[in-house]
Amino acid sequence: MARARNPKEPKSVTSANQSQPIRVLAIAGARPNFMKIAPLMHEFARRPDRFEPILVHTGQHYDQAMSDSFFRDLGIPEPDVNLGVGSGTHGHQTAQVLMKIEDLLIERKPHVVLVVGDVNSTIAAALAAVKLDIPVAHVEAGLRSWDRKMPEEINRVLTDSVSEWLFTTEASAEENLLREGVAADKIHFVGNVMIDTLISHRERAKQLDTVERLGLTPGEYAVLTLHRPSNVDSAEQLRKLFDVLGQLNREIPVVFPIHPRTAKAIEDNLGGIKPDVQITAPLGYLDFLRLLTDAQMVLTDSGGIQEETTALGVPCLTLRESTERPVTVTEGTNEIVGTNPAAIEAAIKKLRSGPKREGRQPKLWDGKAAVRIADILERDLAGAAANN
Ligand code: UD1
Repeated sequence: MARARNPKEPKSVTSANQSQPIRVLAIAGARPNFMKIAPLMHEFARRPDRFEPILVHTGQHYDQAMSDSFFRDLGIPEPDVNLGVGSGTHGHQTAQVLMKIEDLLIERKPHVVLVVGDVNSTIAAALAAVKLDIPVAHVEAGLRSWDRKMPEEINRVLTDSVSEWLFTTEASAEENLLREGVAADKIHFVGNVMIDTLISHRERAKQLDTVERLGLTPGEYAVLTLHRPSNVDSAEQLRKLFDVLGQLNREIPVVFPIHPRTAKAIEDNLGGIKPDVQITAPLGYLDFLRLLTDAQMVLTDSGGIQEETTALGVPCLTLRESTERPVTVTEGTNEIVGTNPAAIEAAIKKLRSGPKREGRQPKLWDGKAAVRIADILERDLAGAAANN
């Protein structure tokens, strides 16, 4: 791939002049961001003469189980700044991050703002940066579900459109970006930082007794996660899903670490009547990884879990109508079954009676994505950093 165009790099300066480290302001806001930012922070720390990272937690997720435990499990350094934005409507939450990040960017003057994934914090930080003429690097760029009702899809499209470096995880992402008119030299296929984290924590997770502690037998339980607004915000939809998943629970235990949004929906919309499955509080990263590793199957509407099950070779049924991560279906162990109860029931039956689908590792999901990203930023930004 050709060298990325870098508008911050003055023409007269060559990258040989590298006396100043590159100030990278890295943003993390919500749970799925933490496993993506972790390997990048570790990689920057390994190159102290090249990078000066500033880690900003927006506070979009704030519970100990949704945030602090991930920092601990993944050895992420304490954030330099926590913006404490908390929950709110989309407009409110995004605006809070936008306003607070803008002040911080003016004060800290980073050479680049690094954002990951597709949450509200991602688009808000990217927008604040680009309006101040600070270039944005987007990790996990180019994924498209083609479903504009998903808030994340809007965040992905908008973040990509203002980014200078678009780091992709799979081939489909590059095709999507080229189709949208993104210049080819801004796109870098680097692999998957979330899988970097999975690979480096897999052995530690295997030592945990999570499965036994929950009274389960390896290979003889299912894991369920649900939190998408399209599944949990409608009482009727949630009730239908719980009916079919309750049936599965009569055959094998279904463990359901419950997202706060879903817990709230059960209280508000189902009168607090819980599904007939094994509910647990949200789990930490290592406990959840152990649980996934030994599951017979995983049922989910998450984006990241589709990728983690592919990396682990565990069958995954995705309870959504589409995926923005098609490589998990074409090469991995994922199947998009939709949200219709009859279709879910049929897919479960087929999976339990048929041969196990093996899948293979997608290209470059090899634990080295963060190294590739740091290499590219170092190459492209050393000159700009030397100058101010
Ligand atoms: C957000 C992301 C979603 C991601 C998910 C992972 C957006 C648009 N959505 O969705 O892409 O898959 O995180 O978890 O950015 N809450 C707590 N404690 C917390 C955080 C949230 O109790 O620490 C509750 C609050 O009631 C809040 C609700 O969960 O209103 C939803 O949180 P929010 O950050 O708005 O969106 P998520 O559904 O978590």
